[in-house]
Amino acid sequence: MVKKMKIVTIVGARPQFIKAAAVSRAIHRAHQRKKRIQEVLVHTGQHYDTLMDKVFFEELNLPKPDYHLGVGSGSHGKQTGMMIERIEGVLEKERPEAVMVYGDTNSTLAGALAAAKLNLPVAHVEAGLRSYNRIMPEEINRVLTDHLSVFLFCPTDQAVRNLLREGIKDERVRFVSYVGDVMYDSLLYYSRLAEKKSTILQDLSLVNPQSAIGNPQYYLATLHRAENTDDPKRLKSILEALNEIGRIHPVLFPLHPRTRKRMEVYLAFTEFKYIKFVEPVSYLDMLKLEKNARAILTDSGGVQKEAYWLKVPCLTLRGETEWVETVKSGWNKLVGTEKKNIFQGMDDLEKRRPAGREKKLFGEGRASEKIVQILVEGLG
Ligand code: UD1
Ligand code: UDP
Repeated sequence: MVKKMKIVTIVGARPQFIKAAAVSRAIHRAHQRKKRIQEVLVHTGQHYDTLMDKVFFEELNLPKPDYHLGVGSGSHGKQTGMMIERIEGVLEKERPEAVMVYGDTNSTLAGALAAAKLNLPVAHVEAGLRSYNRIMPEEINRVLTDHLSVFLFCPTDQAVRNLLREGIKDERVRFVSYVGDVMYDSLLYYSRLAEKKSTILQDLSLVNPQSAIGNPQYYLATLHRAENTDDPKRLKSILEALNEIGRIHPVLFPLHPRTRKRMEVYLAFTEFKYIKFVEPVSYLDMLKLEKNARAILTDSGGVQKEAYWLKVPCLTLRGETEWVETVKSGWNKLVGTEKKNIFQGMDDLEKRRPAGREKKLFGEGRASEKIVQILVEGLG
């Protein structure tokens, strides 16, 4: 009997569910075409609120995790340590041919470390990204995961160049490939569903029910980076800027639980009456909200790219980004976290909105297929 090629996939945080959905579908398709590849899905439990977790499994039609490790929140050391210990147990039992990790969260690094110590090949999806800001826990996670990986799947050409600069290149024992962005695969696949299914614009009264098509006029904001939420002065400065901008058009703000918790400690929601705070929304609703926004303000990695793909101008509430292509294209501007710079950024944007875009910067929406093909050939 021919042996199946087993891949253990590690996920744990919201953006990883969205990324893994695209690759899981490609694995499933390859399996149906008798490529003998099988996926075992492990959820670390890093995100656990229904609106950060279950909603995505249901909406994206992700398979139920084969293992749920129930790690939850904690300090970096505690959370990552618990994950490593529990992932190791799963890997010892499953003995897969490779372990796939996504992005740059603590779940990513824990998966990569547990696998590498057992001499199992690590496959990193979204390899090679760098912000060159080591204050960000994500930067530490990215660098370490890349250096532990055998398969490095890069979403952009720049990511391949970043790896090369650190001495990581395609060679006999390592596969570095530009495949494109799996989040773009997901966006293309789920946008059509979002158009059909999401009623969020009506639910949040963002369209005038009297007008046939509606012409919503709102800005969309998200914020969750620790360096922004955990510094009360910085958080206040950002929210004051959003509130000012909200006087022009309302600012809709789906609140990440980290940000909600920090706001509850430091600030009063009533101070920001031009910001409409809502619970985190589902992926389909988010796509619909992004597509119809006048502009997006965010510190999220995924949201910056989605703004670009959906042709919505973006202001990034950080001093640097790993998605440098979106900035070079003119569709994304780094405005930092100072109130006056954010406000000025919006003023400039409203005076001169970006135009023209390079289409293929993040691949053609077939990154997941390429990943599966490279894995099958590389491990076979
Ligand atoms: C994590 C990732 C970040 C990623 C983000 C995606 C790390 C270091 N950070 O950040 O790279 O961009 O996910 O959203 O891995 N919480 C809840 N309910 C939940 C999840 C979190 O209340 O379901 C609260 C807890 O108070 C927790 C805090 O949010 O302490 C932070 O959660 P954590 O998973 O540690 O980091 P994120 O900020 O979500
Ligand atoms: N997202 C969502 N609902 C929200 C906010 C974000 O579905 O309320 C989606 C968003 O469209 C993108 C992903 O979550 O696909 C980005 O995740 P997040 O901002 O949490 O993390 P990052 O990309 O910064 O790691």
